[in-house]
Amino acid sequence: METTLKRIILGVTGGVAAYKAAELARLLVKRGIEVRVVMTAAAGHFVGAATFQAITGQPVYADLWDARVANGMAHIDLSRDADLILVAPASADFLAKLAHGRADDLLSTLCLARDCPLLAAPAMNRQMWENPATRRNVDLLMDDNVELIGPAHGEQACGETGYGRMLEPEAILDAVDAYLQPKTLRGLNVLITAGPTYEAIDAVRGITNRSSGKMGYAVAKAAAEAGAKVTLVTGPTGLATPEVAETVAVTSAQEMLEAVEARIDETDIFIGVAAVADYYVLNPSENKIKKDAHILTLELAPNPDILANVSSLDKPPFCVGFAAESENLEEYAELKRKRKHLPLIVANDAKKAIGSDEVELVLLDDAGRHVLDKTDKATQARRLIDHVAKLYNAGNP
Ligand code: C5P
Repeated sequence: METTLKRIILGVTGGVAAYKAAELARLLVKRGIEVRVVMTAAAGHFVGAATFQAITGQPVYADLWDARVANGMAHIDLSRDADLILVAPASADFLAKLAHGRADDLLSTLCLARDCPLLAAPAMNRQMWENPATRRNVDLLMDDNVELIGPAHGEQACGETGYGRMLEPEAILDAVDAYLQPKTLRGLNVLITAGPTYEAIDAVRGITNRSSGKMGYAVAKAAAEAGAKVTLVTGPTGLATPEVAETVAVTSAQEMLEAVEARIDETDIFIGVAAVADYYVLNPSENKIKKDAHILTLELAPNPDILANVSSLDKPPFCVGFAAESENLEEYAELKRKRKHLPLIVANDAKKAIGSDEVELVLLDDAGRHVLDKTDKATQARRLIDHVAKLYNAGNP
């Protein structure tokens, strides 16, 4: 995953989840980020400064009056060149302090004296999280543009179950990444199709393809991170529903077309990532077809081309297509782009891309070709959205 972060302050407050902050620090360091850990006194009861020092290779701070800071102003010195302060875990007490602008230890003072974004991953007992005082503090923090990551629902150290668990370190990093994405599509409606379609043969059998939906879901997530209101129309996949404005689950190409058509008037950008089946079965059987010794012939009829239908509207949205090809990749993709009248098409190697986590993409537009070197689909999706936003915004100043 690409990151623009260079230096961050990782604040650790007193909670059982403090042990997970060590793993979080390790993941941040692994990305090449300089991590300065600032602990509260209570955090020291759960995890030792030596752990963080060893992981980050940096001194660990806890004291407002730290003699290692020459001018006696650790709160200014430490936060001066930080790109971000991330407090994880953030206890109920620390959230209360933040909400009320208290500054009675190094971490709270740093937060008050900061000139960078502040993100906090709450971790507390579920009753503390649900308490009206905490709810008020959370509202105050949101008004102050403090970004809260989580908490998650689940089993807690105290044996209870509910909201209050700190998110896992990987999920926290994911949320930080999402927060940092430039809001290039703010206020725009983006409609995305994803996954395969399934064309019924009978009550239990059908024709489908090996599209996993991963790329389409990653594009939906990236568009949402860029500030768009995203609608995802998805064929059957085994993926978790992403955090977008609306997800519409469909089965066949016809249903996908209807879901798209019902929403296309309000759409600014349409991205067809779905691997729509080319054919459907004429007269599928309502019951399971019984096996016998005869040859079974299926009659197939062509499905509607959803993307071509959208791009040939009188006032089409900005349309982006995907072309999965197994030979003559760019030539065939460019032909498709011309045939479907698309400002942009994304070419990928069908044999390598389907189901895999890493892909190389080639973007083809009026200006030529742009190669996106092989990497994970989440990063590719962000690069694609960045390109889409540039083209869209150039045409709609
Ligand atoms: O199948 P084909 O290679 O033509 O797909 C290219 C693009 O058209 C993809 O973006 C795909 O989502 C879209 N498409 C569609 N409806 C179809 C076939 C393809 O929207 N029936």
